[in-house]
Amino acid sequence: MAIPQGFLQDLIARVDVVELIGRHVQLKKTGANYSGLCPFHSEKSPSFTVSPTKQFFHCFGCGKSGDAIGFLIEHSGMGFMEAVEDLAGSVGMVVPDDERSPQDKAKAQAERERQTSLFDVLEKAAAAYRSQLKAAPRAIDYLKGRGLSGDIAKRFGMGYAPPGWRHLASVYADYADARLVESGMVITGEEGDADKRYDRFRDRIMFPIRNVKGECIGFGGRVLGDDKPKYLNSPETPVFSKGRELYGLFEARQAIRDAGYALVTEGYMDVVALAQLGFEQAVATLGTACTTDHVRKLFRFTDSVVFSFDGDTAGRRAARKALDAALPWATDTRSVKFLFLPPEHDPDSFIRTHGAEAFARFVSDATPLSRFLIDSAREGCDLSSAEGRALLASQAKPLWQALPDGALKRQLLGDIAELVQLPNRELQELWGASAATAAYSPERAASKRPYAALPKRNPRTSPSSRADHACRLLLTEPQLWQHLSAQDHALLGELPAPHGPLLAWLEGQVQEHGPLSWRAWREGLRGQAFEALAVKLASDLAEPATEEDPVSTNDRGSLEELRSVLNGLLMEQLEHQKSEAIASISSDPSALKRYQELDVLWRQLKTPKV
Ligand code: UTP
Ligand code: MN
Repeated sequence: MAIPQGFLQDLIARVDVVELIGRHVQLKKTGANYSGLCPFHSEKSPSFTVSPTKQFFHCFGCGKSGDAIGFLIEHSGMGFMEAVEDLAGSVGMVVPDDERSPQDKAKAQAERERQTSLFDVLEKAAAAYRSQLKAAPRAIDYLKGRGLSGDIAKRFGMGYAPPGWRHLASVYADYADARLVESGMVITGEEGDADKRYDRFRDRIMFPIRNVKGECIGFGGRVLGDDKPKYLNSPETPVFSKGRELYGLFEARQAIRDAGYALVTEGYMDVVALAQLGFEQAVATLGTACTTDHVRKLFRFTDSVVFSFDGDTAGRRAARKALDAALPWATDTRSVKFLFLPPEHDPDSFIRTHGAEAFARFVSDATPLSRFLIDSAREGCDLSSAEGRALLASQAKPLWQALPDGALKRQLLGDIAELVQLPNRELQELWGASAATAAYSPERAASKRPYAALPKRNPRTSPSSRADHACRLLLTEPQLWQHLSAQDHALLGELPAPHGPLLAWLEGQVQEHGPLSWRAWREGLRGQAFEALAVKLASDLAEPATEEDPVSTNDRGSLEELRSVLNGLLMEQLEHQKSEAIASISSDPSALKRYQELDVLWRQLKTPKV
């Protein structure tokens, strides 16, 4: 990966780390810094701090620290390049890539220039449409008739494309300029015949579509009456892709943060009307189904998304598509909900008829993803028959499998199993080992798996309790030493004091005297720094085991137990080393490679062996 360090440093300097982290962690200003509850370990009082001057975060509790890139890698589970590209995109920088050939680089440069010049073309049209609106009483009346204020029209840059085939000829110096066609503003006859060109948008209310940087990338245009088609949209162009862009996202960014969620609607008018009535956190898909790219984009701005659908059958179909798009992103820390409006309503008509308060109530009552998933799976299933329940299982399978692993997924397995009337285990078996581990398979990790699904922050056994556990096992069953590799020995001996020194000492004893009993160790422990620890651990164990719960002491069981403890210790060590590498990733050129190697090891350990 050959991103120049200078670029990374510029990037870190430009990104506001407080704002970035603030999207995921509730931060409070404390003196020069910000603090909050650490997202990397569970805690009740804040030990996680973010320094705006250093552009760095640090947790005094778990020791994790790093810059914006490190945060995205650790928290959102992005890959390094993905994190860099994400951040660069958010501040309008372009990631240089020295690995490309000079031709490729020149091509990319030309591409960027072409895009920039298309932005210019589009912005010019937007400005012309805005000024045309002022001179078009018919258009103004239409907007007023739909309850829109001048302020809101201005905020969204709305305009009017006058009638006539070639209005834009008066806007651009050269109506034959190929960029007019390329940007979708002008439609051309065959062979690009200049005489056969005409404006795409005529006599329509114009909604400029902006990217997250605020650049105009296309338009939606509505007729003023009941003509068809009601809306025309810009075609796909080098700067506009309906499957990726959301109308209103640029305008809604701050409100999404303030409200804590984004509301996804289906129409331009919905976004504008909602914003006017106080719901500025609304965006809209552009006349296409919601895609996984849309969802991913939204999750850059918030952890909570509410999809709203019109109360008709088309709305339900659209909701189902949104469910499919959202499933891979529905990690345990995110919330996805579905709002079904009463039949015949869309958000615009609903809020105008029933008011903002009623709409807010609807939003807060939206259906959680888990429920909608189950509702979708049981559609058309007669649960009173075995066949109907089997159908449910087969309809639920792909939905369930698309979820990233986590507590939500596991609970849903139980819920579905109950409906199917099968024990959890059997359902999981039926869905195959691939289902159980779908979220872990490397192919999936490389392709489909969304970034936030990666590092799990489950509350886990604390480091010292793992080390305790290993000491206890090895003290009481020293014969286990001989089953361990040299690497295991080193890991144990290098644990922080007092555990490491105790284990190093024990290993020496076993080598010298063989696996003796605990009593034989006792004498040699006297006066050692780790005596207290060893005695405490051994006495924990001396508690008489109850009859019902006989302690298994067979070698094999203990060895397995020890291996799992070692695995945990190794993961902890790797996590610690990863954090160290992450902390210096944008200042130390070798840190990235180190991080990536550690990460490969970490993932291997994390993957359950099937
Ligand atoms: P709707 O028909 O629900 O329109 O289409 P709307 O947004 O409520 O518009 P109003 O209230 O009648 O003015 C929803 C979205 O589908 C796309 C547009 O993006 C629209 O906002 N659409 C609709 C088209 O692209 N073309 C059409 O002809 C109709
Ligand atoms: Mn409408």
